[in-house]
Amino acid sequence: KVPPTINNESTKTFSQTPESAKDWDLLRASLLKFNNAALEIPLVINGRRVYANDEGSNRTTIQHLNPSNHKQVLANVTQANGKDIQDAIEASKLAKKQWYSLPFYDRAAVFLKAADLISTKYRYDMLAACMLGQGKNVYQAEIDCIAELCDFFRFNVKYASELYAQQPTNGTKGIWNTVEYRPLEGFVYAVSPFNFTAIAANLVGAPALMGNTVLWKPSQYAALSNYLLYTVLEEAGLPDGVINFIPGEPEFITNELIKNPNFNALHYTGSTQVFKSLYSKIQNKLVDGTYRDYPRIVGETGGKNFHLVHNTANLPNAIFNTIRGAFEYQGQKCSATSRLYLPQSKSTEFLNDLIGTLSETDSKFAPKNIAASAISGGDLHGFTGPVIHEASFKKLAGIIDEATKDPELEIIYGGTYDKKDGYFIHPTIIKCKDPNHKFMKTEFFGPILTVYEYPDEKFVDICKTIDETGNYGLTGAIFARDRNAIQLASDLLRYSAGNFYINDKCTAAVVAQQWFGGARMSGTNDKAGSGNILSRFVSMRNTKENF
Ligand code: SER
Repeated sequence: KVPPTINNESTKTFSQTPESAKDWDLLRASLLKFNNAALEIPLVINGRRVYANDEGSNRTTIQHLNPSNHKQVLANVTQANGKDIQDAIEASKLAKKQWYSLPFYDRAAVFLKAADLISTKYRYDMLAACMLGQGKNVYQAEIDCIAELCDFFRFNVKYASELYAQQPTNGTKGIWNTVEYRPLEGFVYAVSPFNFTAIAANLVGAPALMGNTVLWKPSQYAALSNYLLYTVLEEAGLPDGVINFIPGEPEFITNELIKNPNFNALHYTGSTQVFKSLYSKIQNKLVDGTYRDYPRIVGETGGKNFHLVHNTANLPNAIFNTIRGAFEYQGQKCSATSRLYLPQSKSTEFLNDLIGTLSETDSKFAPKNIAASAISGGDLHGFTGPVIHEASFKKLAGIIDEATKDPELEIIYGGTYDKKDGYFIHPTIIKCKDPNHKFMKTEFFGPILTVYEYPDEKFVDICKTIDETGNYGLTGAIFARDRNAIQLASDLLRYSAGNFYINDKCTAAVVAQQWFGGARMSGTNDKAGSGNILSRFVSMRNTKENF
């Protein structure tokens, strides 16, 4: 069988024209549905739903709040207990043989079908779940939980077929060499973040497509969209036990899973701090002789991603892209622009224009509370939404407070915050006098951009500074017309970004077009959206036969 031709899924425009009217109506209906009832989200173990209020259960739940309106409970999320986790491990063992023995096309069909269901039947529910639960506007939701999600499922099928087709040569007559792409012998533990439902889909989908079984700990802050994704996979034909959905207390679940001898891989996206701790815990267990295999550790974490503007840059283009890179989805993308370097000769013009455009964009697109807007039938665009939760709000507010007191720093835009209804941090721009200031090095994961103005003639030095101040290596961009400047930046920043952009924002990698991931403290750089990552979830067996 030949897999179908695969193209990137396109997004719907949700414009104010009559052509979009039906999309708006369907979206409002879905928003209202989730808005009007707090859902009970269960665990799913071996296809069986398990709830906190099941008889004799000692499970707890936690509330999944709407970050735009934190008085509203969207869902009560069941938390896995120790027995649930052991049951899920058992389920993944039981399901394994049958799942990997299926012809590849049967496994692939589940993910192709799920992508089709998401782009059609469940599109508006998926958008609504992401908008309400994760605080996205409709465009950001379209990009994430529709386009990128479908792309991961479909392109992984294409890349897997290409990988399986690679076979060794036979050499001498009378010898037949073959390679079997076995899944890993144990189970895969997938830990997914709140910020992209698409990433969650790939964290579980990539290993499962290759014949693995997966234990999935979703983020409690994305439980609504992630549970919906699980149910879509079921409808698409995913057999019981292949992916077990086990929300719960992160450290508890991790400790239970990684002490099991069958733990074989971690597939992780989230904070650098948590990834480092998982990495070292796993290494310690390996040294203690806990595992049958060397666990595969595949992780993508954060960044302090840069935009470097040269004095030959097309300024309107650099400004437009900086606004999008830094402030879309409130800067809560691992790829978000978070430090900006401007040549002194252009800096005033650049910042005046950027602030002018940003203030227009930012105030034009009220209201910010998507849920309230849905009820009143209002506009659902909103450029600036909430940050994800109270802890994030407090951290970001603290960063702003610190900036107001530090003589090395100057807040030139924003600098306000408000959590009366939702967790709103105003887009904020902070000038730094010192390129080595910790604000130029620390990831904030919110709508705060730091700026340093460099002397035009020190372009090479600033490239070196960007490289040296980065513990991270995720994304970055150079804006310039001069090819010498582009080439210099590309050379000097070779390891500063795994995704390097020329005259474009450093966010919004498209599956299969920009293979995504970075090195240094940003992760293992196995490149989501490419075939490379799939090879981390197979363990090949080479067979030689003499005739
Ligand atoms: N792929 C997203 C981006 O590039 C982040 O995960 O913005």
